[in-house]
Amino acid sequence: MRLKDTGMTRQELKDTIDTYTMVTAKHLDLVAEQGKGKYIYDADGTAYLDFYAGIAVSSVGNCNEKVVQAIQEQAAQLIHGSNYPYLVPQAKLAKLICESIGMDKIFFQNSGSEANELMIKMARKYGVETYGPARYHIVTAKNSFHGRTYGALSATGQPDNGCQIGYHPVLPGFTYAEFNNLESFREACTEHTIAIMVEPVQGEGGVYPAKQEFLEGLRKLCDEKGMLLLFDEVQTGWGRCGDLMAFLSYGVTPDIVTMAKAMGGGMPIGAVCANRKAASAINPGSHGSTYGGNPVCCAAAYAAVTEIMEKKLPERAKEIGAYFQKRLQELPGIKEVRGRGLLVGVEFNTPIAAEVKHGCFEHQLLITAVSDTIIRIVPPLIVEKEDCDRAVEILKTVVQEQLG
Ligand SMILES: Cc1ncc(COP(=O)(O)O)c(C=O)c1O
Repeated sequence: MRLKDTGMTRQELKDTIDTYTMVTAKHLDLVAEQGKGKYIYDADGTAYLDFYAGIAVSSVGNCNEKVVQAIQEQAAQLIHGSNYPYLVPQAKLAKLICESIGMDKIFFQNSGSEANELMIKMARKYGVETYGPARYHIVTAKNSFHGRTYGALSATGQPDNGCQIGYHPVLPGFTYAEFNNLESFREACTEHTIAIMVEPVQGEGGVYPAKQEFLEGLRKLCDEKGMLLLFDEVQTGWGRCGDLMAFLSYGVTPDIVTMAKAMGGGMPIGAVCANRKAASAINPGSHGSTYGGNPVCCAAAYAAVTEIMEKKLPERAKEIGAYFQKRLQELPGIKEVRGRGLLVGVEFNTPIAAEVKHGCFEHQLLITAVSDTIIRIVPPLIVEKEDCDRAVEILKTVVQEQLG
């Protein structure tokens, strides 16, 4: 069979990718040609139930109609802007986001890592301008993941993981403390510390939700020591954990929060939101981005965020997520099922996660593995209970096969 558009066979297409691109992940045997709602279609027509959403991105569904329409209309109007002109889609999106999550200011970036770069830069600049040049240090969590650019990579508390290996020395000025251990964070803070940075739920690290008292404790600690509290909500934000942002569901407000993934409906966009105090660190000349706040991405994000609100997807994530997590307890060989909303992790007693992921693929179910023993399931927030039932039945079969 020859593929539409290229005239290549499947194998030729795969060979072309392997020959000409730098491969950073083990590919699935999937030629993803089309997406619609909760399904991804292979070029051969096979429908895959999408329970990974392009790594927690397609929360409003693949090729959501409102997002597609917004992209098409904006692309016909103005594709690029830069930071110099005033742009209509930016204005609409900035107001919508700041007002709906209670933040004063926003700056748009192109990805989660980039958003975290700016969050780190802002915290440091705020520190040195408020207290002097020695206040630059940031405490982050062991097992965290903040991205692959140098600042974000240095903040990532996984020094022995592949993402940092070969890239040393990373940026100085970070210490990693135990997640969910307030004392460990307190001990890691020195007179140089200006900020604490955590994910409300560690996603890539294995789906570990923060405890309520941990986040409340961090807020208090930051207030006591005149430090900033930074939340990385790149994965947890925009509905996935049962509220617009996870921090709203914890009732713990950070000084700065980053977001990306779901907010763009599939388009590459990230952002940093801050209160007035933290945002005061950024002024003309101190930061910028050629593409950040791109009109097409902002228009898509406005449609995606509006869809998340109008369809009450956070509430759905909470309800369906609770149902799904309960049903996943039926799987054999599990150590723990955990998560928040539809950010779900299943930890097995044995290292079968990669095999389970591949086994699910053979049954037309897409999920991800985040370690040898942990799978992560992050479907679009539009899925129904019946889709979760189907996923559970497939998982049962696949896990049973692995356990023998
Ligand atoms: C919590 C968190 N922060 C940052 C990132 C990096 O985002 P991006 O891949 O868009 O640079 C990720 C990506 O998975 C993430 O989960």
